[in-house]
Amino acid sequence: MTTPPSNSPSSARAGVSRSSDVPLLVRALRCQKVERVPVWLMRQAGRYMEEYREVRRKTDFLRLCKSPALCAEVMATAVDRLGVDAAIIFSDLLPILEPLGFELTYAPGDGPIIGNPLREPSDLTRVRELTDLAPMEYQFDVVRQTRRVIPKEKAVIGFAGAPFTLAGYAIEGRSSRTFERTRALMRSEPSLWHDFLGLIARSVARVVNAQMAAGADALQLFDSWAGVLTPEEYRTYVLPHLRSLLERLTPGIPVIYFWTGNPALLPLIAPLKVACVGVDHRVRLDDAINILPPTTALQGNMAPVVLLSDIPTIRAEVKKILDTAAGRPGYIFNLGHGVLKQTPVENAIELVRFVQNYRR
Ligand code: CP3
Repeated sequence: MTTPPSNSPSSARAGVSRSSDVPLLVRALRCQKVERVPVWLMRQAGRYMEEYREVRRKTDFLRLCKSPALCAEVMATAVDRLGVDAAIIFSDLLPILEPLGFELTYAPGDGPIIGNPLREPSDLTRVRELTDLAPMEYQFDVVRQTRRVIPKEKAVIGFAGAPFTLAGYAIEGRSSRTFERTRALMRSEPSLWHDFLGLIARSVARVVNAQMAAGADALQLFDSWAGVLTPEEYRTYVLPHLRSLLERLTPGIPVIYFWTGNPALLPLIAPLKVACVGVDHRVRLDDAINILPPTTALQGNMAPVVLLSDIPTIRAEVKKILDTAAGRPGYIFNLGHGVLKQTPVENAIELVRFVQNYRR
């Protein structure tokens, strides 16, 4: 199936929005009717790709994040190889913790380590709110340089961690599957908790507003670990700070709120004022379609592990998802979470091609 040219009168008659100035992904985020489903992959530039491993042999990860030209090149290479419709800036969730006063390193094979995690009320005295954005200037440079090398019709997505997920790393000091210290601290030191999350929300809002000013087309807020929370924890300790962050954003910024892990949170997330909500592989896509308002776009849903199987299996899974989302304005294809590092690149390329050519 071929895509008609962008000025095709038949598509105009069908009411398909296709302003060539606005990237496909952004039009889908606005729930406009689009010519086809846009697709990109979380962690699309990463260790599953030989080109990325080659760059990493020469540069350590944090240095790479602070080298804008190299970041732009790494993402442009991935976008070009995969043919996806969007580039998320190449950076990481955690470097913003440095100017807040945390010591960040990435240990090979061990993931991120915070040398001085926040554990008790007196620790808050050494945490600084980010008001001067100079220490994050390299990230805004990544946005500018990425925008310059990515074709106009593809979106550039800026991103940051949502307050809970960032606080979780700052408190645990490393990756965790349960965030027990963090969840204990919410209860034992509620005023410390709310002060800290408020400070993070204000700092993140300034950073992502600056990413947009530097040329990003949309923003993704990663609340990757929200799913470890009970609905009550999420409502009491997380939602107020997420709302305050959203209220501080420059009006009109299309925001994708990404979270994973606990489908019971979806009814609490549905009323958020965001353009799009991420739907991970533990949520049934048709449930999400029913629960989210028709004006909120959806992104995601395919289990990353599917990319480890064979092409016919991958196609069948993609088809199921696209058929479920068919007719729902505002659906963006993505995985439920990031590309696994053992993923064969050819499978990711084939996935993207299949989504882009699929017609029911
Ligand atoms: O293609 C892309 O998505 C690139 C940009 C990107 C990275 N990290 C690069 C990265 C983005 C959007 C992130 C977000 C991020 N970082 C999240 C949220 C998304 C998610 O997966 O839930 C989180 C939780 C982090 C924190 C982080 N960074 C961890 C826990 C780790 C170690 C785990 C791992 O996979 O190694 C990282 C490192 C990291 N961030 C890598 C990359 C490509 C691997 C670093 C390497 O080269 O060794």
